[in-house]
Amino acid sequence: MLAVSPTDRLFVLTGAGVSAESGIPTFRGVGGLWRNHRIEEVASPEAWRRNPYLVWEFYSMRRRVAAAAKPNPAHCALAQLEARLGKRLFLCTQNVDNLHEQAGSNRVVHMHGELFKSRCDSCERRPFEHTETFEPPFEIPRCECGGRIRPHICWFGEVPFELDRVFSELEKCTIFMAVGTSGVVEPAASFVAQVAGQAKTIYVGPEEPRNAHSFDECCVGEAGKMLPDLLGR
Ligand code: OAD
Repeated sequence: MLAVSPTDRLFVLTGAGVSAESGIPTFRGVGGLWRNHRIEEVASPEAWRRNPYLVWEFYSMRRRVAAAAKPNPAHCALAQLEARLGKRLFLCTQNVDNLHEQAGSNRVVHMHGELFKSRCDSCERRPFEHTETFEPPFEIPRCECGGRIRPHICWFGEVPFELDRVFSELEKCTIFMAVGTSGVVEPAASFVAQVAGQAKTIYVGPEEPRNAHSFDECCVGEAGKMLPDLLGR
């Protein structure tokens, strides 16, 4: 079990692997393609300009999959940890599903956006709850300003959300744990190197991530099986 002293501050970074046992496919590895498109081909501003219909079809499919998913023991263990540690836990996810919230986590930072929110691609209107899905043929939804409504997702080539807060929490942490992320996509892949020497660093997942050399410890196993024991029930 992970030793957490009363003065420790935990930074937990989760990736697609934490939701894998809930039935949401990961991006890389088996099943990492959608209709022969690489994720970069349907998740970028270029894709949106080239074919917004294809982009909405992709995110509609992901909305349907995520809407059917339920939190697994890994999400629950992290929610219980928040209940114990309060603000000494900072939970930062690259995932756009809402399974951490469904498990009871109240303070989740979604650095890559949220699947069930949309925003206008032209005006400053705030992102809003939006669960609609789109089947062909369909019209691209429009904002009152005339702009097109797009998923509230950080696409390739865009800047992740809330980075100031994320980097400020990284500076303060004494334990850094990454769960179910391949260590490929920046800036999250470099978080562990940034806290080296300042924090104890642990990775949890069934295989070593690409940045495994930067972690003090890699706990090999599925998050839903490992986290309840590692974090305490
Ligand atoms: P990846 O799909 O790159 O990696 C998923 C990781 O989860 C792999 O390292 C698997 O070994 C691991 N994994 C699989 N099953 C697991 C389980 N049961 N428990 C724990 N780990 C498991 O996903 P991310 O690293 O999250 O960005 O990908 C980062 C970003 O790339 C995503 O947020 C997305 C994508 O492009 C955007 O859409 C902007």
